Amino acid sequence: MDTSKWTQASDLKAALPAIWDALQVKVDRMIGQLGEKSPHVAKADGLYDDMRLDWWTAGFWPGILWIMYDMTGKEHYREAAWSWDEKFEQKTIQDNNFHHDVGFQFLPTSVIKYKLTGDKDAKRRGLQAANFLAGRFNIAGSFLRAWNQDKIGWSIVDSSMNLSILFWAAQEIGDPRFDHIARAHADTVVDKFIRPDGSVNHILSFDPQTGELIEPLGGQGHGPDSSWSRGASWALHGMANTYRYTGDKRYLYAAQQVAHYFLACLPDDHVPHWDFRAADPLDGEPRDTSAATCAVSGLIELGAALPGAEGAVYRRAAERILLSLTQHYATWDRPEHEGILLAGTGNKPAWQNIDVSLIYGDYYYVEAIAKLLGWRNRIF
Ligand code: GLY
Repeated sequence: MDTSKWTQASDLKAALPAIWDALQVKVDRMIGQLGEKSPHVAKADGLYDDMRLDWWTAGFWPGILWIMYDMTGKEHYREAAWSWDEKFEQKTIQDNNFHHDVGFQFLPTSVIKYKLTGDKDAKRRGLQAANFLAGRFNIAGSFLRAWNQDKIGWSIVDSSMNLSILFWAAQEIGDPRFDHIARAHADTVVDKFIRPDGSVNHILSFDPQTGELIEPLGGQGHGPDSSWSRGASWALHGMANTYRYTGDKRYLYAAQQVAHYFLACLPDDHVPHWDFRAADPLDGEPRDTSAATCAVSGLIELGAALPGAEGAVYRRAAERILLSLTQHYATWDRPEHEGILLAGTGNKPAWQNIDVSLIYGDYYYVEAIAKLLGWRNRIF
């Protein structure tokens, strides 16, 4: 695809049909390339790995396929997406490591499958995942427990994105308990995860007995006081979604607060470094295109939530970032490459997955483009 003719953010609208056509070609090829693989990371060789099915990213490839199906009605997308949630359910009754990220896994598989096809098994799986997530709520500290093993009092900002499965369950079966838990955790995100300047903590450690906050931890950011860009995008998008489900302005303002900080930190090409405080200056630090795409999809939610010129600020920002991703970070001219976007950063402090394609970066790119083309259903 020749992307050079688009020179400014306002060109993105005109470019969308060509981008969508290129995405269909790309995803059709990926279906053949990936086969039964559960993709997570593609390194320099361009080949996605095959990650275990209880890994937090296993829902994103089927999620791409369901969006493609919903947008086009083409059967081959539905066929390729169909069995993923069944495989996840099998895994839930075996030894596994499912945790708070069941939203990332079951929303883009079971819940969207049920919404699009009415499949009762998919509904059951989605509700089971919501029950499992609700069961991780710590009443004393008002937070969802993140991971397993000994990390009983740890909560992480990423959970902001998993709240959607609780809101969906509350609406689906008319049981407000799911809504209560989602709002209670969202309040903790607003009060404790988001800092006054709009940056966010990745991990907060609480006393699981008393619920008292002990300390922030660095996690996937540079340090406890730094500013992990994907964490910011989880909070931005998650709070925008929470506003969409609840209509409570507190969450809208939280999403805006993070958005303003995020946008203020972007470099000239609008694609964030992995941590906004990793170094000064940041030149030479890796980018994270997955933080960009997740934030873009959240910015589009903000653009839709706010009227007229107020919303346009966020839509224009989303278009600027998307245009840069499309022109400078995509694999349009590398058909053998199984990822859509390059330059994702998984976990820099652990020296894992730096400058790679990440399936969640690819997913949120597809989601954002679909939203701009009028896709009305929502997964998150
Ligand atoms: N949810 C884990 C991550 O963003 O890497």
